[in-house]
Amino acid sequence: MSAPVIFENAEIVTADTQFRGYVISQDGFITEIGEGRAPEKGLDLKGDYLLPGLVELHTDHLEVHFMPRPKVEWPAISAVLAHDAQVIGAGITTVFDALRVGNDYDEEKFGARMKKLANAVASAKADDLTRAEHFLHLRCEISCADVVEEMEQFLTDPNLKLVSVMDHTPGQRQFTDVSKWKQYYGGKKNVSDAQLDETIQRRMTIFAKYSEKNRQDIIERCQRHAIAIASHDDATAEHVAEAVRDGMHIAEFPTTIEAAEASHEAGLKVLMGAPNVVRGGSHSGNVGAQTLAEAGVLDVLSSDYVPTSLLMGAFALRDIKAVGSLAGAIRLVSKNPAEAAGLTDRGEIAKGKRTDVLRVSMAGEQPIVREVWREGRRVA
Ligand SMILES: [Fe+2]
Repeated sequence: MSAPVIFENAEIVTADTQFRGYVISQDGFITEIGEGRAPEKGLDLKGDYLLPGLVELHTDHLEVHFMPRPKVEWPAISAVLAHDAQVIGAGITTVFDALRVGNDYDEEKFGARMKKLANAVASAKADDLTRAEHFLHLRCEISCADVVEEMEQFLTDPNLKLVSVMDHTPGQRQFTDVSKWKQYYGGKKNVSDAQLDETIQRRMTIFAKYSEKNRQDIIERCQRHAIAIASHDDATAEHVAEAVRDGMHIAEFPTTIEAAEASHEAGLKVLMGAPNVVRGGSHSGNVGAQTLAEAGVLDVLSSDYVPTSLLMGAFALRDIKAVGSLAGAIRLVSKNPAEAAGLTDRGEIAKGKRTDVLRVSMAGEQPIVREVWREGRRVA
């Protein structure tokens, strides 16, 4: 047994309350929590918060480090480590790196590239190079002909613990309004209106041909490999009914309050983007995370495209009555996502859980991550 780590004089936030006290960790796990003074001298946190390490289910930030410019591919291990440094600095001790599969007919296939990244994550983990613990979240675009074939090459990867089933066809879900799709993709690709209309027609045809079969094939494979499944951009009661029928665990980015309420009531964990909270609304004009928090149907926040937004988003929601103060807000970024992904050994400051913890102080309204421990080891 190694020497215990004692955190004292800390404002401890557990899954349901907060108090001034101490936490003792032994060999990577929390063995004792108490109010008031610690039985022995330890690390004096001087009244700063001691929070559970954050659990992030959906970040596309790894891809950003791997392709820092269009067509520029950075060495995969270096990309993983740069991404790791950023997430651990944001207080994220468990991260699900999102990788996309499924190619449009005119795109270069990126499955092989994603596989390279998945292999780099596995080798960085094996060599104990990462400070956060990394898993994979495979994002499957079901309207693409090759999506099942592409996803299959990841199925035996032990890091794959979450799969989401997405459909970004114009006229569906996130893009019920086709003009929104035009704005989004037209802005990204700089193509003419006529070309966009042609793409829309083609994608709708492909959707009709492949989507339902691909969806079922992917779900069947996830169930066989005991991988958690997320629905994406649910907009209607029918979408939610399908997600429930298919045994999904998470509803990512529902676009309407109706879909979010129905998902939450059916026991799916409703996940929304923290940047949406920080910016005060959705970039695509759909229902906002804050609205769902106020309605008491928000379960999980995700940093999506800005790692530091996770803690900022949680703090920004702490005064909402239905969220239930800071403990309730922190649950959205720790215990709830851990449970949603099937990780029962972490996600809260509680006896027997992993010592994944953060020291956080405030600079005005801005939470600042001062120190980070993973399994009792100081990593940032
Ligand atoms: Fe989407």
